[in-house]
Amino acid sequence: MSTIDDKATEVPEDAAGESAETVPPEQEKEEVAEKKEINKGLVIFVFIAAFVASLIVGWILFPMVLYTQENQPIDFNHALHLEEVENSCESCHFFREDGSYAGVPKLAQCVDCHDEVMGDDLDELAFVENYVQKNIEVPWLIYSQQSDCVFFSHAAHVKAAKMDCVSCHGDIGESTSLKVYEKNIITGISRDIWGKNIGGIKLHSWDRMKMNDCAKCHKEETGNQGACFQCHK
Ligand code: HEC
Ligand code: HEC
Ligand code: HEC
Ligand code: HEC
Ligand code: HEC
Repeated sequence: MSTIDDKATEVPEDAAGESAETVPPEQEKEEVAEKKEINKGLVIFVFIAAFVASLIVGWILFPMVLYTQENQPIDFNHALHLEEVENSCESCHFFREDGSYAGVPKLAQCVDCHDEVMGDDLDELAFVENYVQKNIEVPWLIYSQQSDCVFFSHAAHVKAAKMDCVSCHGDIGESTSLKVYEKNIITGISRDIWGKNIGGIKLHSWDRMKMNDCAKCHKEETGNQGACFQCHK
């Protein structure tokens, strides 16, 4: 039964006055109200469906297309090595004489122990045969590498401000395996400079490290967030 047909048959009857076949006004109102309810329900349903669809696109599909995943050339177990080295993190990640940060370790930090294969771990075998014995540096993918326009100093944070590695890098120092490296296909930059929670929810200080997060801590620690050229040289 369609609305147009109803109206077409009802209008002439109304014009001709009361008729026995006319639908009582009360019932008619109820029908209209019911239709409105259904329409409202439909609108809400369509809205929610579109909202959920856009969330899926925005949070799952878009990041899936935006980032390519690459594995590190070999895996590395931080927890295992922390028991072997004498000087904790600094055995491999240290400040040079001039105060600059050595960052990701070079073969020189490994060869004293790994000049020969020690165990039966396949990553160690690959490391010794493909890199140590051929004297080739491991092409590590650097998770936190900023773009060239951003200046960052470990000395200012670790030495002067006495900050812990964990507050910016999370628990990678205690991990048993390196995670997958995710590269943004548009900027070519690692996903980790923004942290895993680009969208916002921040449970730990290391979940997100966008410009505003750097600036927020600067404001809290020093009272002002600093001029642009402090971080962009
Ligand atoms: C035996 C050497 C060694 C020791 C000791 C060591 N690391 Fe590492 N670390 C590595 C290697 C190898 C990598 C892999 C490089 C990479 O991430 O591309 C790495 C990567 C990292 C990274 C990721 C850097 C990046 O952005 O890619 C962080 C952060 C880090 N280490 C922190 C620590 C902390 C904190 C400690 C002490 C609790 C520690 N490491 C102890 C060798 C070491
Ligand atoms: C103080 C000695 C020492 C130093 C320095 C050291 N390692 Fe190791 N490494 C070990 C020992 C011990 C093992 C365990 C050997 C086994 O049973 O396979 C190991 C295991 C490994 C393995 C296999 C397990 C894993 O981590 O996935 C890799 C790969 C490795 N080392 C890479 C490195 C690299 C790269 C460096 C330099 C950044 C380095 N090691 C520096 C002692 C050392
Ligand atoms: C205030 C935050 C902060 C703290 C604290 C911090 N880092 Fe970093 N780290 C960064 C940023 C940002 C980068 C990227 C720097 C760049 O691209 O110039 C980085 C880069 C690195 C890298 C890779 C550098 C490279 O180019 O090879 C390593 C390794 C690393 N950090 C280890 C550590 C360790 C170990 C500690 C503790 C001693 C530490 N960081 C403390 C923020 C921090
Ligand atoms: C949790 C707090 C915190 C975070 C996060 C942080 N900083 Fe800082 N930063 C500091 C403090 C404190 C100082 C001042 C250190 C001092 O006393 O010189 C500082 C100093 C600096 C300086 C000045 C260094 C110099 O030699 O003049 C630069 C540049 C800088 N931060 C860049 C960054 C960047 C880029 C990020 C984000 C990737 C960042 N910071 C994240 C606390 C933080
Ligand atoms: C505390 C350090 C800090 C300060 C101060 C700062 N920035 Fe940034 N800025 C960053 C970091 C880290 C990034 C890269 C991460 C990101 O995009 O959020 C960045 C990224 C940017 C980008 C994006 C460019 C690119 O290559 O991705 C622009 C544009 C920018 N900053 C402009 C500014 C301007 C303008 C100011 C002054 C009002 C300023 N920044 C102050 C740290 C800082």
